[in-house]
Amino acid sequence: MKNESAPPSIGVDANELISLARVVLVNAYAPYSNMRVGAAALFDDGSIITGVNVENASFGLTICAERCAIATAVAQGKRRLRALAVTSDHNKPLPPCGACRQVIAEFSEGDAVVVLEEGDGNPKIFHISELLPLAYKFPK
Ligand code: THU
Repeated sequence: MKNESAPPSIGVDANELISLARVVLVNAYAPYSNMRVGAAALFDDGSIITGVNVENASFGLTICAERCAIATAVAQGKRRLRALAVTSDHNKPLPPCGACRQVIAEFSEGDAVVVLEEGDGNPKIFHISELLPLAYKFPK
C-alpha cells in the first residue's frame, strides 16, 4: 500500500541518502542560478552514486543533479535504481523536474522511490509512479 503512514523500505536509511546528497552540494556548478543541487542514487547492488547540477552559459545545456547521478552510475554498469534523494542549498523540498522523472523511470527497478527533504528537515518518500504516472515507454 502506498501511503504516508507506511513509507516503503528503500534498503537504506532515507536520512543517510539525503546526507550523502548534501555532502556533494559543494561540487555543484551553478554560477547562473546560484542554486546548488545534490542527488544520491541507490542501486540494486547497494552502491550509492552521487551527482550535482552542472550549469552552462548556454542555459539549456544544464544537467540536473539527478540525471548527473544516474548517468554516472550507468557509465559504471549500473541499471537498476531503487532510490534517489535530492537536496539543495535553498532549504526547500526540490521535486525532480519532468525530464529527470522520465530518466528516473527509465532505470527504476519496480517502483523506485524519490526521497525529498521537507521544510522541517525530515525526509518525505514518493514512488516514481506517483511523480510520473504513465511514464513514456518505448513501444515494442
Ligand atoms: N535542477 C536540478 O538539478 N534538478 C531538478 O530536478 C530541477 C532543477 C537544477 C538545474 C539548475 O542548475 C538549477 O537547479 C535551477 O533550476
